[in-house]
Amino acid sequence: MPAAARIIVNADIPGPTISRHVYGHFAEHLGRCIYGGFWVGEDAETPHVGGIRKDVVDALRELAIPNLRWPGGCFADEYHWRDGVGPREARPRMVNTHWGGVEEDNSFGTHEFMALCELLGAEAYVAGNVGSGSVREMSEWVEYLTRSGSSPMVELRRQNGRDEPWPVRFWGIGNEPWGCGGHMRPEAYADLARQYATFCRDYGDNVLYRVAAGASEDDVAWTEALMRAVAELRTGPFPALPFQAVSVHYYTIGGTWTAKGSATEFDEDDYWRTIRAAQRIEPLLRQHIAVMDRYDPDREVGLVVDEWGTWWDVEPGTNPGFLFQQGTMRDALVASLTFDVFHRLAERVVMANIAQTVNVLQAMLLVDEQTGALVRTPTFHVFEMSTVHHDAVAVPVHVAAPTGERDVDGTAVRTVSASASVRDGRCHVSVSNLSAEPLDVELDLRGSAVRTFSARLLAADAGVAHNTAQRPDAVVPRAVDDALVPTAAGVRLTLPPHAFAVLSAS
Ligand code: AHR
Repeated sequence: MPAAARIIVNADIPGPTISRHVYGHFAEHLGRCIYGGFWVGEDAETPHVGGIRKDVVDALRELAIPNLRWPGGCFADEYHWRDGVGPREARPRMVNTHWGGVEEDNSFGTHEFMALCELLGAEAYVAGNVGSGSVREMSEWVEYLTRSGSSPMVELRRQNGRDEPWPVRFWGIGNEPWGCGGHMRPEAYADLARQYATFCRDYGDNVLYRVAAGASEDDVAWTEALMRAVAELRTGPFPALPFQAVSVHYYTIGGTWTAKGSATEFDEDDYWRTIRAAQRIEPLLRQHIAVMDRYDPDREVGLVVDEWGTWWDVEPGTNPGFLFQQGTMRDALVASLTFDVFHRLAERVVMANIAQTVNVLQAMLLVDEQTGALVRTPTFHVFEMSTVHHDAVAVPVHVAAPTGERDVDGTAVRTVSASASVRDGRCHVSVSNLSAEPLDVELDLRGSAVRTFSARLLAADAGVAHNTAQRPDAVVPRAVDDALVPTAAGVRLTLPPHAFAVLSAS
């Protein structure tokens, strides 16, 4: 008898809207993400649009990427945007000290990034340089991108071939200032964030959404310092909201930071330690939210998880500074359970960015270095299957699974994860079977008259299953409508081990 879980969904109890921006992405000048991932250059034989790989864009369009964070990461705090505009052959070079010490020729700069966003249909999320830049530099970047009419930066943009401004709402004020962004103390950064934010201006209709660089993992003291900086300014003699959001970074590490483990070679214990680490994101975000609630009970300041995902040891033989890793079904399940958390916390978690889009960490796409072939990872498919939740209304879900917990080194780890939303009269339920056993799922759909069900399933024979250039379709989603068994309350489906499914009622 397979294990069983009843998923009770109350479709008529609307919760907060799940912003599509929690499905955001991140592209850093790191390893082969920009160069060799997105950017091949205008002289390349690989099919491209203005130097941007066409197959990469075509694939990513399936994900309806809402926003793309760039240029870092740690790289953001050593990036000087003026070096990346104007004729490419005249752009200065620099050393990418954080990521492999390689030379950066600045051929992919502001205009190329905005062209990429336009091709993807994604909003830009630009991370400014606080660590080694200046207030003026960031202020002028905002002017360059978003101002119309006439001004020094507008003239410069025109000289560089772009007349109209771009709409760019999302601006990050530095990155990880507690670490690679400058090793600052929280109060020191909080003051800088207020200062930088002040000089990042709204031009015309372009109203900025400024994101202060937030905590690492469970460092709630950092969040508290930022929220205090907000509260003080709000209640001061000249009330202002300096920034609209604070961020937090959380990576799922199955081992330790010095020995993270292999992306593809792991045993059952490694697997469960990873799931435990991934599930830790929920209590951790709740801690940050509790602090935010104290200073901002009306929830005007958003929480942005602008770096998350799995981080493994690099693939053998690859540059340790390039963070290239394979992506298995285990990674896909980390993504699916993380989305369940974002859906539950949608009232405060307004945006998130998985690290990173192509060839780096928990990527959507891997470009085979030998053949140039493009491989979609299982995580790609979770993102694609989850597009139904973009801007949908979260509804409550109760998982009744008698055998739904497992002890992992003294911690209870859930073996089933689920969340649900309603959009355009349709209810979509995400269910992850994290365990190595099949799971009988009974969906008990309440508060909805609709009784036509369909389902898509992402499953493989093992948690280590992954796609390669030789077997690009080893793990792909498929429709399993025929396997659905109608019940009085809804529908029943048996999930294979290590599986992710989206059940839809319409
Ligand atoms: O995503 C890789 C790196 O991880 C980012 O550059 C940095 O912000 C974080 O430490």
